[in-house]
Parts: sequence; structure tokens; C-alpha cells
Amino acid sequence: MKTHILQILQQSNPPVSGEHLSRQLGISRVAVWKHIRGMQAAGYDIQSTPKGYRLAARSDKPLPWVFGERSSKVHHYSELPSTMEKAVVLAQGGCDNFSVVVADRQTKGRGRLQRRWQSDPGGLYFTMVLKPRLDPWAAPLLNLAAALDLAGTLAEHYGIDAKVKWPNDVLVDGKKIAGILSQMAAEADCIHYVCLGIGVNVNNHPPNISPPAVSVSQLTGRPGSRAEILAGFWDRFERRINEDRLSGVVQEWKTRTVTLGHHVVIKTIQETIEGTAVDLDPKGGLVLSLPDGKQKTIVHGDCFHDTVTEEG
Ligand code: BTN
Repeated sequence: MKTHILQILQQSNPPVSGEHLSRQLGISRVAVWKHIRGMQAAGYDIQSTPKGYRLAARSDKPLPWVFGERSSKVHHYSELPSTMEKAVVLAQGGCDNFSVVVADRQTKGRGRLQRRWQSDPGGLYFTMVLKPRLDPWAAPLLNLAAALDLAGTLAEHYGIDAKVKWPNDVLVDGKKIAGILSQMAAEADCIHYVCLGIGVNVNNHPPNISPPAVSVSQLTGRPGSRAEILAGFWDRFERRINEDRLSGVVQEWKTRTVTLGHHVVIKTIQETIEGTAVDLDPKGGLVLSLPDGKQKTIVHGDCFHDTVTEEG
């Protein structure tokens, strides 16, 4: 119901009377009023004027009813330790494909390789539960696709020229604007679920230490909308998966990456490897040219860039 109220208010500049809303929606004026109160309490600036209700400003909060037909798949929390754990519980409980857990802040946000992901208010923190019909070896392609679709969303909505860095960071001028962490449950030949955790610096001020980071509002000088970024990403990503376009991901990634051509240091939980990043293999592995001239493909790890050693 709130989705419909929001749609009607968004489409009208003059105030909309409670009577008009109640007729349009087939509910009582008291019920309309209760929904409006709920929306105001959640942060929507809806003014009650003598002529009716007016949406003064959109909230950037990723509340379920902002997502229209997808609203029942959105699980919004003001605060969570981490959206990953909630998403795993949902996935194990048999939730729908493309369900989303989103929090306004996280107290124990997790980054890759057991690092912490600082999750202050203003940032976008969500985990999307995927149930793809894919072989487990293809799961890294989902991460690459997500990084590309985040970069595409930032370009489309904010004119931000974002690049991707192996394995799945999104950077602007070398500064991290988004990171992805994924957790998978699979058997030898089938994926049960993938929880794709995504953090985007939107209106928060990320610590600009190692690695340097930046947010949407710092880049554009105006607030970004977490709801708009999540919806934009969701459109692109779901379309890509439903249209079976994962096979084109490697090629597309190569055109948007800052990793190839760099001397890199790869850290895994077990070892550190140095080399020049020369290619991405069809499964999303990074092909390194090692100092002894041999090649090695890295499947998991974190990547630190050094200098550009060739055109890339
Ligand atoms: C990284 O670059 O190290 C990955 C960061 C992933 C952060 C997101 S925020 C939403 C989800 N919940 C978490 O605890 N982590 C991921």
C-alpha cells in the first residue's frame, strides 16, 4: 500500500487529498492517514496541508515500499551487526531469488579476508541472496558482474567514471567507492545460494587511509540516494542474470579494469605472490606473469596495485 501511496505522491506536484488517496487505493481515510504516519516516521518528508498530502522531499532510505513490485523481497533494518548473517539465515530458510537484506548501519561490517568494513550511517550496506542455476566454478563471474553493474549504476545516475579492480572492487581515481564480499553454499555441481554483500560509500565519509576511499557525495558535491543506487544496481544485475549474459562478463570487465598491466601483489590467506597482471581467464581468475617468466592464475585473494608496467 505504501508503494502505491508513494507513487501517487511522486506523480503529483499539488497536494493530494486524503479522500482522493482513499478512493484510488480502496481503503479508508483513516487507513491512508496511518500509512502516511508510518512513512513520516520512517523519514519521508510528507507534509499535511489543508489541501492534502504533499511529498516535500524524497528520502534516500532503502525502505521496502520504495522498490515497488520488489518490496516484499526487501528486508530493511536500521542497524544490524552485518547484513551477511541475516541473508544467510534467509537463504537457508528458502527465501526468493534476489531477496535483499539492507541496513542503515552495521556494527560488525565484514570485508574480504576477515577485514572490517566500516559501516557508518549514510553508506549503502546490503546483501543480495542469489540462487543461480550455475556451476560453482562460475560463481566468481557473479562478483565481476556485480562490480560492473555497480560501476554502471554510478555512471548512469551520478556521472561517476568508476573502474573495477580485481577481484571485485569499484574505484574512482584509485580510491575505493564500493566493495563486494560473497559467501556461497554449493555442492560439486550446483550452487544452493550465493550471498552477495555490497558496501557502497554514498553519503558517509569513509576513512581515507589505506586503501584510500571516497564517497558519492564527496565526488559530486551533493547527497546521493541509497535507494536509487540499490534500485539501479538491482535492475542492471537482475536483467543481466535473467538474460543469461554472464558469459560476456570477462570481456566487459577487461574494458573497465585498472588491474591489467599493473605490477600487483596478491595476498591470500596462505601466501603473497607478486607479478604483472596480464589477463583474466574465462572463469574470472587473474593471470599473472611471474618474475621467473612463468604464468600463474590466481583464483582468490586480495590485490594491491603497484606501478603500470605496460599499456593497460
Ligand atoms: C571488501 O571490499 O572487503 C568487501 C566489503 C563488503 C562490505 C559489505 S557491506 C554489506 C555486507 N555486509 C557486510 O558485513 N559486508 C558486506
